Amino acid sequence: MEKINAVITGVGGYVPDYILNNEEISKMVDTNDEWIMTRIGVSERRILNEEGLGTSYMARKAAKQLMQRTGSSPDDIDLVIVGTTTPDYTFPSTASILCDKLGLKNAFAFDLSAACSGFLYALETGASYIRSGRYKKVIVVGADKMSSITNYTDRATCPIFGDGAAAFMLEPTTEEFGVMDSLLRTDGKGLPFLHMKAGGSVCPPSYFTVDNHMHSIYQEGRTVFKYAVSNMSNVCAEIAERNGLDKDSITWVVPHQANMRIIDAVAHRLDLPVDKVMVNINRYGNTSAATLPLCIWDFESKLKKGDNIIFTAFGAGFTWGAIYVKWGYDGSKQ
Ligand code: UT7
Repeated sequence: MEKINAVITGVGGYVPDYILNNEEISKMVDTNDEWIMTRIGVSERRILNEEGLGTSYMARKAAKQLMQRTGSSPDDIDLVIVGTTTPDYTFPSTASILCDKLGLKNAFAFDLSAACSGFLYALETGASYIRSGRYKKVIVVGADKMSSITNYTDRATCPIFGDGAAAFMLEPTTEEFGVMDSLLRTDGKGLPFLHMKAGGSVCPPSYFTVDNHMHSIYQEGRTVFKYAVSNMSNVCAEIAERNGLDKDSITWVVPHQANMRIIDAVAHRLDLPVDKVMVNINRYGNTSAATLPLCIWDFESKLKKGDNIIFTAFGAGFTWGAIYVKWGYDGSKQ
């Protein structure tokens, strides 16, 4: 039997209209535009501020655009995987809500929890279903409403995060395009450095947890920074080496958009020029699982068939990894 690869045949995305800029953040906490720009590199982020709308709303917008751009009808879709840390509800899954809103009748769907590495894990998982030969159209979504778990009285975290969603369509091909290789890692020793203290089964919600902001992101920034730079650099270097890629044959690196200094450090370690690194952190901030596909959504018009792209992310867990993709089409699919 011929080998089946999982090729990306389209991208869809969505960011909410409301723009939260550094001037407004500076009125909420003791900070300023200069600190945020030099230490993080975010000038504005999008916030889903309409009451009653959650992550599935943004995921639905992204997936609808994806289906329109790839000419897919609801009955064609076999599987939906949603990488998210901010599901609409603890249960049911955001993926099941998405299926209903998109009118998918022939699909099964599930959420995947790997924090900021959620899209990376979901992409490899979706690709594996395609490679099995049993599934023909798989939607992989990265979506997060980070504003729902951000403490806007904590200056160490609130300037970083934003809301957004984006999605890829995966389809089978016997050509050498698509998700070619992956290197994914998990180290649960990262728990103390990046987590949400309450709301799970260890510490269910109570008046105490709400009063003490225990339903928001807790992060020891410097430690996370250090691990993010070294782990992303190492997996990128390893995946490049084992696929015979060097700085000339790599067309793009798509790094998780957590901090401009982390992105620069990874590019520096890989000896890559800045124009090969996709960056949009300045406009959207850290949208967690959505950062990688949102980069592709923004840069799609620049992509060419055969481009060698390395995706890399790092997040709570710790979770991290790199995926090597050979891009499958030229320019934008509008
Ligand atoms: O996406 C998941 C993975 N997450 C990450 O990759 C995030 C990794 N970490 C980071 O991006 C950075 O560590 C942060 C952006 C979170 C913080 O930047 P930093 O350069 O590591 O700052 P710091 O925590 O070491 O704090 C330096 C100083 C402190 O003041 P003192 O103690 O030196 O007087 C902070 O209190 O900056 C202060 N500070 C601020 N000052 C103005 C912290 N936040 C702010 C702020 N405005 N917003």
